[in-house]
Amino acid sequence: MSRGLFVVFEGIDGCGKSTQARRVARDRDARFVFEPGDTPVGIDLRRWILDAATPMTPATEALLLLADRAHHVHSVIEPALASGRSVVADRFYASTLAYQGYGRGVDLDELRAATDLAIGDCRPDLTVLIDLAPNLALEREARDESDRFEIADARFHDRVRQGYLELAGEDVDGWFVVDGAPSVREVAAVIDQRLAELPW
Ligand code: TYD
Repeated sequence: MSRGLFVVFEGIDGCGKSTQARRVARDRDARFVFEPGDTPVGIDLRRWILDAATPMTPATEALLLLADRAHHVHSVIEPALASGRSVVADRFYASTLAYQGYGRGVDLDELRAATDLAIGDCRPDLTVLIDLAPNLALEREARDESDRFEIADARFHDRVRQGYLELAGEDVDGWFVVDGAPSVREVAAVIDQRLAELPW
């Protein structure tokens, strides 16, 4: 049996990636997954990761996210792909490079090495970046301004956005960048055109 396809959606909070990822998973009969917090272990980790009332260093934050990811890959993503099922993810390793690396300032080489430990050979076939300016994303999200990332300032979200664009620029075959400003329907059409090139 051939291995399933692994497609990841990335972008800043409020860019519309969750809507698009869920839609694509449904249309393609793929397994929808998300990070952080998509396993029983991950639910507990997500609580700590997002809890703004518990101060932690950027390294601690990164390692909790990577622990969540390592467990997610091992217990959900890899078994699905190995069984021939495609997987569509709402966030994966690039979130950690963008948020903890570019956003928080954790050393990128060290993060990449730790990411290798967490995910092994489980690499996306394609990463779709929905690019949107933070002020537009902010308008879209019904924010309660309460979690660790929602309370970060605008410059943080700008660095995350630029980080994503840099990562996409380093690997043009592995990434597809789509402008998130148009309507959900228009963004969906652009994404679907690119996804139609993959061997589903
Ligand atoms: P997510 O669940 O996608 O956001 P939402 O609650 O809006 O659905 O992600 C929660 C937060 O975690 C988000 O602000 C981004 C952050 N995050 C990181 O900083 N690094 C990571 O590696 C991941 C997976 C998420």
